[in-house]
Amino acid sequence: MDWVNEERRRSQDPIFHRFLASFLLLATQIAAAAASSSGSSFVFNGFRGASLSLNGGGTIESNGLLRLTNFTKNEVGHAFFPNPFVFLNSSSSELLSFSTSFVFAIFPGYEDISSHGIAFAITPSNKLTDVLPSQHLGLFNFTNNGDPSNHIVAVELDTIQNREFEDINDNHVGIDVNSLTSISSAPASFYLDSSGLQYENLSLINGEPMRVWVDYDGKGMVLNVTLAPMINPKPERPLLSSKVNLSSVVLNNMYVGFAAATGAAAGSHYVLGWSFSVNGKAEELNLSQLPSLPTKEAEDTTTEKKTTQLWIILLPIVIFIVLFIASIGIVHLIKTKKKFAEVVEDWETEYGPHRFSYKDLYRATEGFSDENLLGNGGFGGVYKGRLPKSKLEIAVKRISHDSRQGMKEFVAEIASIGRLRHRNLVQLLGYCRRRGELLLVYDYMPNSSLEKYIFDRPEKTLNWSQRFKIIRGIAAALLYLHEEWEQVVIHRDIKASNVLLDAEFNGKLGDFGLARLHDRGSNLQTTRVVGTLGYLAPELSRTGKSTTSSDVFGFGAFLLEVACGKRPIELKTSGIEMVLVDWVMDFLREGEILEARDRKLGTVYSAEEMELVLRLGLICSHPAPSARPSMRQVVQVLEGEVALPDISEDDFYVFDSSSRRNKILMDESSSNSCTAASYPSLSDLPLSRIN
Ligand SMILES: *[C@@H]1O[C@H](CO)[C@@H](O)[C@H](O)[C@H]1NC(C)=O
Ligand SMILES: *[C@@H]1O[C@H](CO)[C@@H](O)[C@H](O)[C@H]1NC(C)=O
Ligand SMILES: *[C@@H]1O[C@H](CO)[C@@H](O)[C@H](O)[C@H]1NC(C)=O
Ligand SMILES: *[C@@H]1O[C@H](CO)[C@@H](O)[C@H](O)[C@H]1NC(C)=O
Repeated sequence: MDWVNEERRRSQDPIFHRFLASFLLLATQIAAAAASSSGSSFVFNGFRGASLSLNGGGTIESNGLLRLTNFTKNEVGHAFFPNPFVFLNSSSSELLSFSTSFVFAIFPGYEDISSHGIAFAITPSNKLTDVLPSQHLGLFNFTNNGDPSNHIVAVELDTIQNREFEDINDNHVGIDVNSLTSISSAPASFYLDSSGLQYENLSLINGEPMRVWVDYDGKGMVLNVTLAPMINPKPERPLLSSKVNLSSVVLNNMYVGFAAATGAAAGSHYVLGWSFSVNGKAEELNLSQLPSLPTKEAEDTTTEKKTTQLWIILLPIVIFIVLFIASIGIVHLIKTKKKFAEVVEDWETEYGPHRFSYKDLYRATEGFSDENLLGNGGFGGVYKGRLPKSKLEIAVKRISHDSRQGMKEFVAEIASIGRLRHRNLVQLLGYCRRRGELLLVYDYMPNSSLEKYIFDRPEKTLNWSQRFKIIRGIAAALLYLHEEWEQVVIHRDIKASNVLLDAEFNGKLGDFGLARLHDRGSNLQTTRVVGTLGYLAPELSRTGKSTTSSDVFGFGAFLLEVACGKRPIELKTSGIEMVLVDWVMDFLREGEILEARDRKLGTVYSAEEMELVLRLGLICSHPAPSARPSMRQVVQVLEGEVALPDISEDDFYVFDSSSRRNKILMDESSSNSCTAASYPSLSDLPLSRIN
């Protein structure tokens, strides 16, 4: 084998090449001489350099493999030892014994459809002419099949069942004398012991190398045929053992060789090694020297040929499909890229940790699906989500935002708001910015907003202690924003719907800082005024400037709505609008302020706390900013550290709905008022407050 490599390596060398050619010629001559010198035997452990009479598809491959068919339909292949053998005893003219052994392999053609078989044959000529492929195995034709003048003895390894020749099945071994109708046959198999009880089936077309022994006893006239997988030793018991008088069949000089044929289905037939002997036992083949069979894939040239033809047709289609898919992929990629595109500017890098990727938010909210829509806030939809990596539940607020103006300041503010930490503030986790869109990411609040539990006819209401806890919590949060953080933060939109509830019904103030977005004159696609009517301090319309006092005014409205279960302004069925502050004031004047309480509470409430909250609500709702308490005072009152100041007669005057209306209208002839008393239609509102 090393020699082979050497040959390959050096084959470029012309001197070596010439030397090799002469050496091979010499070797062939020696081999031929060796075969003929004994006159009665030969052995080919592989056929490299062997001179055989090849016909049809018969060819010796470079590795020494003898191939009889070339993967073509209706093909015949012959390979005969070039010289004849003397089969008869020269003196007695009696038939001599002979023996042969060979290794063959049959590869089926396309999709395991069997081609025809292969046969070892003893013939009067080393050139069989006028023979047919297919079922005639390249040995006979329609007219001479069965003719005694053929003088042909063959052992067929047949892979197709032909009824005309009485084949037993499509995978059998048979002994043929002048005819394809076997005188003896058996399914391809081998015995495991001499008793003949145990055997194993073989498939002739499985592409595995198999060994055949044909032994003829000239005296006893018994022809034995034995089959086994190549690596197996020769089974003791032959597959076929038949008494055949060959004396009238075999002529004095006969040739030995192989014939193979394909039919409608192509296939390939190989012989790997072959030994033969007349009047003696055929030499054992040296299995280790036999050439190896091609791998099945490479071997299936039929398939390959078909595939090649198929490819010529298919390739353009395949290329087209591939390009088509690729372009779809690219379009999809571009779309995805566009879909998830964000706007990131240099200055934003400093807010890094607060920035979320749009892709994450998109995944978290399942593509902002309607199922995940929690509600439509004043600024845009709010979606529930779960961050893909951390599994953290979030609420994502989408705000359409066309203007880049003020964005930098706003994002800076978001980043700073993100640093606000209070147990009664909804935690802002971060943001994401895209073209025309801003997304704010908050902690998810499972119990949604307080509004749901107190107004109209709620499915479920909150009891007084829950409400009082929420009130105190929100007060603490506002105090934190106004006084306890490093800078004053004004909420601007305090109301029940902006108070969210966590799993334990703790109130958390949300949406702070958003009203500011309006203030900056950004182009929000909404026609809302800043803040919410009924919660807006009267001075706001005049000054346009939010202060801590205006937040306190909003908190007053919030106190009243939580205690009374009513909105600051409600339109009665009679068409008369009911201003909550006035309504509570009426009860106060009549000395029965507790009657203003939310009837849904029933009798389970603390009268003391209720009165405190109602009165505090009124005080916070004072029209004059200076008359309102600070959030610190509010908290102190709620915690019972400081007594509630009395509400004076002056206040009664001021709180009187009609007189207040007059007063304000007098003050603000420009009608820049947004208070409850002068609740205008939207078109009356100054444009600067509407976007
Ligand atoms: C036989 O096979 C060889 C190599 O596989 C190829 O070059 C040749 O054309 C084939 N001959 C026929 C008749 O198909
Ligand atoms: C069959 O083969 C024989 C020779 O073996 C030949 O004489 C005869 O013409 C062939 N018949 C046909 C139909 O080819
Ligand atoms: C061999 O194959 C035949 C059918 O072809 C089946 O009846 C028999 O059982 C098989 N024997 C073994 C040992 O597999
Ligand atoms: C074999 O056949 C030949 C001629 O056909 C005949 O002379 C001979 O007796 C036969 N031998 C046996 C053992 O039958």
